[in-house]
Amino acid sequence: MKNTLLANGRRIAYYASGDAAHTVPLVLLHGFCEDASLWRPLLPRLRGVRTLRIDLPGFGASQPPLAPGMAIYADAVCAVLNELGIDRCVLAGHSMGGYAALEFGRHHPERLAGLGLVHSHPFEDTPERKENRQRGIDMVQARKKNLYVAQLFPGLFAPAFAQAHPEVVQALVRNGRRQPVAGIVAALKSMMDRADHTGTLRALQCPVLFLLGEQDTIVPPRQALTAAALPRVADLHVLPGVGHMGMFEAPERTAEILSDFWTFCTRK
Ligand code: MLT
Repeated sequence: MKNTLLANGRRIAYYASGDAAHTVPLVLLHGFCEDASLWRPLLPRLRGVRTLRIDLPGFGASQPPLAPGMAIYADAVCAVLNELGIDRCVLAGHSMGGYAALEFGRHHPERLAGLGLVHSHPFEDTPERKENRQRGIDMVQARKKNLYVAQLFPGLFAPAFAQAHPEVVQALVRNGRRQPVAGIVAALKSMMDRADHTGTLRALQCPVLFLLGEQDTIVPPRQALTAAALPRVADLHVLPGVGHMGMFEAPERTAEILSDFWTFCTRK
């Protein structure tokens, strides 16, 4: 069921499932040009887990932010936790959602029982990536959103999966086209200007999950694995044959890893 609240003057939507008696939920943040529906393939496999899935500002049913910045996405997480009277959570983010989760971890480490980076990493953008993002902003603002989105999604999957399941790729393209220009532009600007979070990972007291795809070209495991040495406790998984989209490419394993991590972080 969809719930809404206000954060920074904008409507934020979130979706709750599982047993609300668990005081420490698993909060899931989607990636760029997606929304909370991204996690749907995992829900039947996360039955024992209390989950909160948030539409980040500018995506799904959440209004675009008034100004860009990763802090806006972290504020949305805070607002949902405050609304529900939740002190601590296990916060897991896919790709851009991971960048938002790290921003949350920098400002509210005491509210984390665990942090999950799903096909994500703590490093800031390279100059080349910043240029790509600016090209994306220019394209989307030049009324070429549909083309931009159509080019974005196929490359997120391992080639064999994209070939075998074009309907999955196309469903994400259709969903991406529904996202507003203002949300896409704010996200691109927020990612371009985001801070390096290696210090955040070093400072965190809670366990950190790294869930990576062997064939991910957006977050290559070789690069992301260097971050796994930073936290005090790391749980590390590289999914064989998987690209950037483990929730579609390996849903059973992805759900199992998230569920085990949540259980580990919330054990009494
Ligand atoms: C995402 O999937 O959220 C983005 O590809 C992340 C990025 O571009 O850095």
